[in-house]
Amino acid sequence: MNANIAASETAGAKTTARIGIVTVSDRASRGEYQDRGGPAIGDYLRETLNSAWSAIERVIPDERPTIEATLRALADDEHCCLIVTTGGTGPAPRDVTPEATLAVCEKPLPGFGELMRKVSLEKVPTAILSRQTAGIRGRCLIVNLPGQPKAIRECLDAVMPAIPYCIDLIGGPFLTTVPERVQAFRPAK
Ligand code: MTE
Repeated sequence: MNANIAASETAGAKTTARIGIVTVSDRASRGEYQDRGGPAIGDYLRETLNSAWSAIERVIPDERPTIEATLRALADDEHCCLIVTTGGTGPAPRDVTPEATLAVCEKPLPGFGELMRKVSLEKVPTAILSRQTAGIRGRCLIVNLPGQPKAIRECLDAVMPAIPYCIDLIGGPFLTTVPERVQAFRPAK
């Protein structure tokens, strides 16, 4: 057995995974409209994960220093193994979530963005406008999603099969999924 997986399974027996859910939106952060992205991520994770987890939610403006500080705090101080952001991935001047994400990550994981754009393009031609990406900071995987709740679901369906194993590899808790919803893939031991 891979040493990382062994450590992660042992830890997973006792550990509740902490998952950051970050809505990046000027208007939602000012209370001008209701945040729909963060709750959509929470609903998706509740339907999909059957191992213990708890959410740490933030709603912040499209300000790069604020996004970076929030991601650092959730990863380093709140010990999140996973942070999912929503919004700010497009080409508009205020869209800076991918830049903030890459600035705080030691390792980019471009495959996440590539796969999400591939599946999204089958639904909507404007999927190429999302610059969403992912990366690793310490023991935390950070994944960007677009702002639309429909896009959140489509993108998470694509990448969720690889997320539990990615978290194993960085020494996080052992996440399991409801198999009828998502088949988490772990290579044969
Ligand atoms: N991806 C999916 N699956 N479904 C969508 O409707 N919308 C696109 C794209 N990706 C979309 C999608 C659009 S219109 C934009 S502008 C970008 O995501 C960026 O969205 P964001 O700025 O809210 O992050």
